[in-house]
Parts: sequence; C-alpha cells; structure tokens
Amino acid sequence: MEKFIELAKKRGSCRAFTDKAVEKELLLSCVEAASLAPSACNSQPWKFTIVTDPEKRKELAELTHDTGFNQWADKAPAFIVVSEDAHPAVIKSVADRYGESRFSEGDVGMATAYLLLQAEELGLGSCVIGTFVDAKVKRLLGISEADTARAIIALGYPAEAPRPKKRKGVEEIAKII
Ligand SMILES: Cc1cc2nc3c(=O)[nH]c(=O)nc-3n(C[C@H](O)[C@H](O)[C@H](O)COP(=O)(O)O)c2cc1C
Repeated sequence: MEKFIELAKKRGSCRAFTDKAVEKELLLSCVEAASLAPSACNSQPWKFTIVTDPEKRKELAELTHDTGFNQWADKAPAFIVVSEDAHPAVIKSVADRYGESRFSEGDVGMATAYLLLQAEELGLGSCVIGTFVDAKVKRLLGISEADTARAIIALGYPAEAPRPKKRKGVEEIAKII
C-alpha cells in the first residue's frame, strides 16, 4: 500500500480504456471503499448501480453525450452510477433544523472520491461524468424516481498515460488563522 498523498497525486481522469472487462470483484471493491466514507448522522445516503451489460452500457454512454462531449464513454467497459437517496436517515433534530437532505450531496461526493481512489489503487482508470439528464439515467437503470443520480463513473483498464495535475497551489487555497 502506498502513501495516501501518492495515490491522490496518481489518480487522474482516464478517458481511454483497453477492451479488457473489469472483474466484478474489483467493481464491488470500489463500492465497498465508497461505503466507508463519512456521512451526516451516518445516514449513508448513497446507492451504486454497476453497469457492465453491453446494451445498457451503450444506452448509458449515449446519455452522456448531451453537451457534445464524452464520446469516449462509448468505449468504457464498466460504469458505476452513484445516486442519492431521497430520504436519508438523519437524526430528527438535525433534519428538523437543516432539512433531511442538507448534507446528502456532500456525502455522495465523498463516497465518490473514495470510489475513485480505490479504483486507482486497483490499477483501474476512472472518470466522473456529470453531464446527463437525471430522469433518463434513472429510467434506463431502474433507479427510484425519487432519488437523484449524481454521477456516472466510467471505469476500465487504462489505455492512456496520466496527465500532469493542474491544481491551484496550497498557498492560494489555504488560510491559517
Ligand atoms: C462532478 C464532476 C463532473 C465531471 N464531468 C465530466 C464529464 O462530463 N466529462 C469528462 O470528460 N470529465 C468530467 N469530469 C472530470 C473532470 O474534468 C476532472 O476531474 C478535472 O478536470 C480534474 O482532472 P483530474 O480528474 O485528472 O485530476 C468531471 C468531474 C467531476 C468531479
């Protein structure tokens, strides 16, 4: 196991994959990692739909083309769609004061980050896709209408080299008071 910072530096969006199928155990391992993320009141307001069926993959990839980008997704050997529960199990006093869904999107984002990092650890390439119509994705995959599909994650064995990271410097984004 490498140092976390090395893993975080190594992970980069991958948009070209080999034809090799991704083993079911590895996809489930990514979901297990996601399930270890923190969440408000431990509500775990997330669901993961793993898509490997060729016909469903094709239809799902088409739903990511909305903005004219993401054609590369047609060749992804697997997807995991991360969706957010409509009614997370947060403590009543928290829900009463802040609304039951106040923290869910952040929670789902953290789970997604864990999933991506586990994929990297397992030697898989991954890329989050955010441009799709929620209702169409849910209909295609049989996700509850009340929930929200937040991210489609493409996964596969990488067929491209990682790009150098472009990030704001720590001195620009951090303030110590
Ligand atoms: C919420 C979200 C939506 C994204 N949507 C897309 C997308 O639709 N297509 C795409 O190619 N990349 C997408 N990305 C990947 C980002 O472009 C990428 O994470 C960013 O440029 C930083 O690069 P890195 O992941 O290689 O570090 C998305 C990332 C996030 C977190």
